[in-house]
Amino acid sequence: MNWIVKESCFDKQLVTTNGNKYMLGNGYMGYRGTLEEFSKTELVAVTLAGLYDKEGDKWREPVNAPNGLLTKVFCNDQLLSVLDCEPVAHTQELNIRNAIHHRSTEYAVSDGGALTFTADRFVSQDNLHLLVSKYSIRSTQDCRVAIETGIDVDVWDINGPHLYGQKVQLKDEVLISSSVSGELKIPVVVAERAYFSFGEELLEDGAAVRRISFDARAGETYEWFKYVAVYTGLDADQPETEAVKSVHAAEALGYEALFKAHRLLWDERWSHSDVIIEGDEAAQFALRYSIYQLLIIAPTVSEKVSIPARGLSGQVYKGAVFWDTEMFMLPFFLHSDPKVVRNLMMYRIHTLDGARRKAAEYGFLGAFYAWESQDTGDDACTLFNVNDVFTGRPMRTYFRDKQVHISGDVVHGIWKYVQFTGDESLLTSGGAEVIWECARFFYSYAYYNSVKQRFEILDVTGPDEYHERVNNNAFTNALVKETLEIALRTAALLEAKYPEEYSQLSAPFSSGPFLKEFKTMLDSFYVPQPDPASLVIEQFDRYHTLEDVELTELKSRVLNKNEYFGGGNGLATTTTILKQADVVLMLNLFKHSFSKEVKQANWEFYEPRTEHGSSLSPCIYALVAADIGSPDWGYPYFMRTATVDLTGESKQYVGDLYIGGTHPAANGGAWMAAVLGFAGLDYDGGVVHINPSLPKHWQSVQLPVTLRGDTIQLRISKDEVTVITAADYSGDLVFSVQGGEGKSCSAGENLRLALSKREYKY
Ligand code: BGC
Repeated sequence: MNWIVKESCFDKQLVTTNGNKYMLGNGYMGYRGTLEEFSKTELVAVTLAGLYDKEGDKWREPVNAPNGLLTKVFCNDQLLSVLDCEPVAHTQELNIRNAIHHRSTEYAVSDGGALTFTADRFVSQDNLHLLVSKYSIRSTQDCRVAIETGIDVDVWDINGPHLYGQKVQLKDEVLISSSVSGELKIPVVVAERAYFSFGEELLEDGAAVRRISFDARAGETYEWFKYVAVYTGLDADQPETEAVKSVHAAEALGYEALFKAHRLLWDERWSHSDVIIEGDEAAQFALRYSIYQLLIIAPTVSEKVSIPARGLSGQVYKGAVFWDTEMFMLPFFLHSDPKVVRNLMMYRIHTLDGARRKAAEYGFLGAFYAWESQDTGDDACTLFNVNDVFTGRPMRTYFRDKQVHISGDVVHGIWKYVQFTGDESLLTSGGAEVIWECARFFYSYAYYNSVKQRFEILDVTGPDEYHERVNNNAFTNALVKETLEIALRTAALLEAKYPEEYSQLSAPFSSGPFLKEFKTMLDSFYVPQPDPASLVIEQFDRYHTLEDVELTELKSRVLNKNEYFGGGNGLATTTTILKQADVVLMLNLFKHSFSKEVKQANWEFYEPRTEHGSSLSPCIYALVAADIGSPDWGYPYFMRTATVDLTGESKQYVGDLYIGGTHPAANGGAWMAAVLGFAGLDYDGGVVHINPSLPKHWQSVQLPVTLRGDTIQLRISKDEVTVITAADYSGDLVFSVQGGEGKSCSAGENLRLALSKREYKY
């Protein structure tokens, strides 16, 4: 089984891509896949979750901490760096099973000799504040070696600087860098302990880097270790004390013990989340890698942060949380580690006031969630989010003001969690308030068309951002309807089961608009429906009047490779070309409300018109293709999604603005396509339905799923589904394949359910 991502030579062109591809992280911090001697020029970053800073009038973004792992090796006074010397041999590896990064570089040194430098590092899963590294050098000749190692306080920022009052001190052999963030004055501390059993150490007063020199003897291996802790004022009252304590404790345990604890936790994580695809090694690897990317950014302990659109791979997109989390990442965590979903949804509960402020700012009631959400829930999205490449001027975009579906996406996420896990305490812990406030927002946003006698949603932007300010976007209206329904269901559930909490929670809404108004709106609410003849659902009012141009034709009109297709007068705005799945996403979200014929007609209509200008798009076409029994139509979309962070084939720069990084929504999309799409798993708190639609060359998909506290193993092939339960299985689940009769099974049993042959369009 392959768990290794590997580079077998050094290519300067790939430094940025590999920074993403070889990422480490633990939900508290991300560490880019850069090499030990690199600096901010090569985009080294230790990105902290949930700590944001704003410098002047620049974009607010997450804070990158100083890099405590900086290490440079010199041989006979010459710096050995892959950037300056051509290495004789070089490998960079990431083991995604253990989340450990390894590099080994062999340099030519004088008189035909060679010096090999290796470094292993991990971002501890056991102590989330800890970075641990082990190094070695070995030379074939006697030589004078110097090692410079310490803390690189010159951090990479996109809209910085963010750290002020930088101070470095040495205390009890620990180097400590302390600074405070500019806006909120939050202390950021990095403590570093380097353990050498050889050499003479030179550290100038106040310097952040020390120099260890020694005469290396031919053939001898010299090994050393570094323990680095990162703490901020958000984590502890005395971050410096905690950080120093942490590195001393780490040193006392030693590298091997620390790695063992880290590895055991990773074993445990994979035991809940690994998916095995039989018959397709490339897909297997890409899917596993996608899962890895999700695991390294999951907030396992904090309910104050969610997952940014670029994970913890840097400051791109302002480190902001979008709808990506609820719509694309949630399903993976729901099936493998529902606690993480609770944290993610609690983050939305904690940021409700920001959403209330945004609704009020625009003159609406309730909660209008931030399109780009940070720590407070206030919107980080600016009114001018894109630069026009022709004029250089900022372009007015309406992501912030008009992508109102975000409030529906949040409600969808909360309800999914409650249904899936049965954990109704989320509703009484703030979830109900969020749901009702979002419904109140939509009630105040809606427009009653007295001629057509129906409520409509006007002037919005749906998922397809190339068409801004449209009326009755099918996706948005479907989510608004769902929000109103969930608001009513939540009230009914709380009133029946938790009457005291219900009267307390609903009291602030007693003067309305509340349930009565939601009901009135629902009774005559308009959601675009399939056209009776073509079965196509119009993406928004008058979409069909736009120029129906082919994508290749549209692309031939491009004048500048970085020009934006949307905005005021982007190329796509007057045409039927869409940025990303919109109606088709709606059909996937509400798959039980539409016939196969409708799904197929819309897939066939919208697919050639979709540019896939967002990495969120292809997985949805894979999901719906599987759903309509055409898995091989979906397969290329699945592979494109699952490999996005391996190939690095996504836009990296717009003008001089770096927009690269990892793509967690696509990572979650890959999992959804494989498990909910091809393997056909469908659980909503009732029966576990399995209706596989495997690509031609896939023999089976095997995975563990955690449902209502039980972890069971599923093996889904073309002709049989096997359910394997553990010895402590509760026996509560009911399984149904291809819509057939529900079957249950007992603890320790292997339940085999035969599948009838399915007609596939390959
Ligand atoms: C997409 C949005 C997405 C955002 C962050 C944009 O390009 O159109 O749907 O939320 O990127 O991933």
